[in-house]
Amino acid sequence: MKIAVLTGAGVSAESGIKTFRDSDGLWEGHDVMEVASPEGFARNPKAVLEFYNQRRRQLLAVQPNAAHKALAGLEKMHEVTIITQNVDDLHERAGSTNVIHLHGELLKARCSVNENLVLDWKQDLNLGDLSDGNHQLRPHIVWFGEMVPMIEVAAEVVEKADVIIIVGTSMQVYPAAGLVQYSKPSSTIYFIDPNPSISETKRIKVFSEKASTGVPKVVELLK
Ligand code: APR
Repeated sequence: MKIAVLTGAGVSAESGIKTFRDSDGLWEGHDVMEVASPEGFARNPKAVLEFYNQRRRQLLAVQPNAAHKALAGLEKMHEVTIITQNVDDLHERAGSTNVIHLHGELLKARCSVNENLVLDWKQDLNLGDLSDGNHQLRPHIVWFGEMVPMIEVAAEVVEKADVIIIVGTSMQVYPAAGLVQYSKPSSTIYFIDPNPSISETKRIKVFSEKASTGVPKVVELLK
């Protein structure tokens, strides 16, 4: 069976990474638009780099949780593609091998002029760190107002899926939130979120609970 899994910040919440919208639009005390937009970066590059440095350090100190692990285990039985809005690498660390990052990756840096120059980056990223093209490096993150290059690949995966599992996303950010519209009518959708933004229908099964308990239950059902 082909399974597409769409994940958001909620899947990593129990690993200790805060979600975006569970705290009044502030993310770790920051205005999301100041730290996650090209305009914010242009205004105050040092503060934006420092913000992601903190996130990167935090990421290196946390571990995948039961939800990431259960999703990785699903690969033993089915053809699974994870489409994540998260920039962390917790799906990969849990063992998932087929992960599409819609919004970029925290452990990569890229040239601020040539977006194809991408490097692995685990340390702090500072002003003066340059790409091969001699331009400032920036986090490899898709910011508000920027293109989401992987969206078409993701839409094709959703189109072909027999089952779609959605975990821990408020479904407020497009184009990611629109991906379910590509699902075929015969597919089943499992939605796991303690505060679900869509309601149950014949085709959509809602699990109003945390990822660490809800995801293993759904994985069990699919065995
Ligand atoms: N398990 C599952 N879901 C949870 C948990 C948990 N333990 N804790 C919280 N949630 C749910 C919340 O109920 C909410 O629906 O996770 C969701 C988090 O929503 P957001 O904070 O809006 O995160 P997300 O949907 O991933 O945001 C999308 O917005 O700023 C951008 O680029 C950023 O990728 C991000 C995008």
